[in-house]
Amino acid sequence: MSHSPDPRPMTARRSGPLRGVATVPGDKSISHRALILGALSVGETRITGLLEGEDVLDTAKAMRAFGAQVERLGNGEWSVHGVGVGGFSEPEGVIDCGNSGTGVRLIMGAMATTPITATFTGDASLCRRPMARITDPLSQFGAQITAREGGRLPITIQGADDPLPVRYRTPVASAQIKSAILLAGLNVPGETVVIEAEPTRDHSERMLAGFGAEIRAEQTDQGHVITLQGRPELRAQAVAVPRDPSSAAFPVAAALIVPGSEIRVPGVSRNPTRDGLYVTLLDMGADIVFENSREEGGEPVADLLVRHGPLRGVTVPAERAASMIDEFPILSVVAAFAEGPTVMNGVAELRVKESDRIDAMARGLEANGVRVEETRDSMTVHGQGRVAGGGTAATHLDHRIAMSFLVLGLATDAPVQIDDGAPIATSFPDFVPLMQGLRADLG
Ligand code: S3P
Repeated sequence: MSHSPDPRPMTARRSGPLRGVATVPGDKSISHRALILGALSVGETRITGLLEGEDVLDTAKAMRAFGAQVERLGNGEWSVHGVGVGGFSEPEGVIDCGNSGTGVRLIMGAMATTPITATFTGDASLCRRPMARITDPLSQFGAQITAREGGRLPITIQGADDPLPVRYRTPVASAQIKSAILLAGLNVPGETVVIEAEPTRDHSERMLAGFGAEIRAEQTDQGHVITLQGRPELRAQAVAVPRDPSSAAFPVAAALIVPGSEIRVPGVSRNPTRDGLYVTLLDMGADIVFENSREEGGEPVADLLVRHGPLRGVTVPAERAASMIDEFPILSVVAAFAEGPTVMNGVAELRVKESDRIDAMARGLEANGVRVEETRDSMTVHGQGRVAGGGTAATHLDHRIAMSFLVLGLATDAPVQIDDGAPIATSFPDFVPLMQGLRADLG
């Protein structure tokens, strides 16, 4: 099945200038981590600005199943009474992480060094995604793991009784692999070390340090090396979740391609491990001004002022891929309106996201009159300044594919349809009213 049980076809139409303030929801990566670290701490963690998308709500449910007390106090405001490192209890039922790769991978790590057994599953998209990249390092800690063929979900993990510290070089640039290992390393005596070729998003490291773990990161000739001292007592914290730069990318892109637009997007995280899209857009000539740069919740943030203007195609270097890995679908939409080709290199990981995002974007753009070339690990969008539209894009249970094509349709000559907008609720439940509030014609 490549769409939701209750698919929601949607259409976007050419819109007049977008105007107003786009207040996007809390960061998805940080929201998952706040719930998981809250659950592994002693005391009450108060979270504000939590993303209340389906992915994160599934993680909240999972933390309850492992014994933490998780309560919603109000809009984005949550309380977690944790059980402490090594304090997870065995869940009664199967842990269903829905559509969320981050949720399932981080939670598998968090329980793999505690002597309990848990079974994990997810939706059709998640059950297709590779999990051996997580279960391989977790078995090195001593966990016993049974997976479906090809290392897929459902997966049962019997946590290690007497876990051993691990030193692991990640085979692909992935913050999910790194974070699963670090979370497993919490309940292990001694030092757990992760080595990555390129630095990936560092929210786990920042938050672990904030909760009192001893953790350090250094750039060496071996790569980016992160060392965690095991068995810390994590102390409950107040966590203010900054707004999600990956969600901000959609209204930002819409304002860049719809003539006459001018919008503001307040409080967006500018963490350098997440800002590759913004670097690339500036390179393309985008009119984006970063105002009021400051720190919020331990992350650098700024208010964005975004205006429509001419854009040129660029080459995105492979080294930048990790810092914008979720933004290539929306970049390929912006690229379709630029003059000249935009080449995206080193993007093989896109093939194993919620969908094969290279294939999904290429087919959907072609259906709307844009020429795209692809290889296993690159994609080139031939921008011609305008896009015909008139096509339907298949979204394959992928929220970012759905939102990308709705943004595309705001500036095409003919309307753009998507087969299913239901997955948008996984990361950006208010996407449609927020865009309509900017006067975008979609629904
Ligand atoms: C995430 C890491 C990225 C990203 C995902 C969120 C995280 O995945 O695509 O949406 O929160 O750690 P990979 O680490 O697998 O690249």
